[in-house]
Amino acid sequence: MGKKIFSGVQPTGNLHLGNYIGAIKNFVDLQNQKGNECVYCVVDLHAITTKQDPKILKSNIRETTAAFLASGIDPKKSIIFNQSLVPSHSEGSWMLGCIARMGWLNRMTQFKEKAGKDKEKASVGLYIYPVLMAADILLYDATHVPVGEDQKQHLELSRDIAQKFNLDFNAPDFLRAPEPLIQKNFSRIMSLKDGKNKMSKSDPSDLSRINLTDSKDQIVNKIKKAKTDNDPLSDDDKNLSDRPEVENLLGIYSSLNDQSLQNSLNEFSGKNFSEFKKKLAEIVVEKISPISIEINKLQKDSNYIDIVLKEGGERANKIASKKVSEMKKIVGF
Ligand code: TYM
Repeated sequence: MGKKIFSGVQPTGNLHLGNYIGAIKNFVDLQNQKGNECVYCVVDLHAITTKQDPKILKSNIRETTAAFLASGIDPKKSIIFNQSLVPSHSEGSWMLGCIARMGWLNRMTQFKEKAGKDKEKASVGLYIYPVLMAADILLYDATHVPVGEDQKQHLELSRDIAQKFNLDFNAPDFLRAPEPLIQKNFSRIMSLKDGKNKMSKSDPSDLSRINLTDSKDQIVNKIKKAKTDNDPLSDDDKNLSDRPEVENLLGIYSSLNDQSLQNSLNEFSGKNFSEFKKKLAEIVVEKISPISIEINKLQKDSNYIDIVLKEGGERANKIASKKVSEMKKIVGF
């Protein structure tokens, strides 16, 4: 039987190689496997949990959609829409927010990271953000959710919320606990400047990440400047745990070539970094430049993007509103 896939990406600008390898690349692979039904959402309600400029948000919603399309997500095969078009996400989120416990949310490490030192000043939305994420997934009866490693805890919470809802209302199997789909080796792409920090949209240094909109020259330059160390490469991967920057670059190379880390180690064993970086730049340019060119092209046709979102929104609305109606009945409305 095919899988029911749901996943989302925030339209907060600067989509990068981490988003591509950790998530979007898999969205495309899953879409192209026979029998799967895929829903991919531009999660604009999640984006406003931190302050956004309304004009920039609108353009970022289109840019993220363009990145989906340019990477190979096909609106004829998958549902692509932005979250705010489907009111059921907010409605479902409220009901699930009354199921989730404060203690569960207090454990979310991403809230702690994002809220920083002054938690009192974080928005309430940022705190309850994982509940909205649970609603996204559960409204579509998703069986599998492809994400990067940083979303694992949120998926576990979605499972807990589903189970408690079913138990509290004596509605066995009504909400389906989803399985995370997290790649074994390449689910956490790190900064090019610091192998201990995740590659991130919000890193102030643009040299820390490869954006999906970077030009060939920018990609080559960023890889040239990426941090490494002085030892040559060896085919023994036990040494890699102490060399996070090197491990990360090899991971990027392996993932884009669809080969194991060990294969890449064998390929470059004994060679110096200039040789490896040249090959790495070649594969990143080969995979990312066509996406970047297509994003720029699509962005000139915002009309087309808006039509894709509207049609996707209508299809999503049919599925989600039916589930929310059933949920309301169960709750007693
Ligand atoms: P977001 O927008 O932060 O990231 C989108 C996807 O990219 C992955 N990712 C990474 N993977 C590997 N290495 C990295 N450095 C890296 N940075 C980001 C993320 O894990 C994610 O899969 N809460 C989610 C969006 C969301 C969602 C959902 C996801 C909302 N509702 C329902 C799945 C299902 C988020 O903020 O992702």
